[in-house]
Amino acid sequence: MTKVKIATTADVSTDKVLKTSAGDRSILVAKVGDKYCSVANKCPHLGLPMAKGKLENGTITCPFHGSKFEMCTGKNVEWVESIAGISLPGVAKKIVSMGKTPSDVASFSVTQEGDDLFVDI
Ligand code: FES
Repeated sequence: MTKVKIATTADVSTDKVLKTSAGDRSILVAKVGDKYCSVANKCPHLGLPMAKGKLENGTITCPFHGSKFEMCTGKNVEWVESIAGISLPGVAKKIVSMGKTPSDVASFSVTQEGDDLFVDI
């Protein structure tokens, strides 16, 4: 494992995710309460980037089909709920899911040293 600096505390907020990188991985960082959390910038539904997703109560919503993930654990809490913010009925959710079953997004443990934030990759 390699420890990689991803941001400073001043770069990260509680109301939107910061897109940054760790090695060749694109990742997202946010502050949840007094903790810094990071997940992959790659939705497990179709592999699309989530950097423009909404952050609310420590959960990021994928901007493409509304899947939701906890920023601190990567846990999936809702799966394929909408298209362009418009809610989908049950049958349409199945079609848009394209056979993909609910999955967590990769998450990374963030450590802090002074004002610097790091992940191990
Ligand atoms: S790509 Fe994220 S929910 Fe579809």
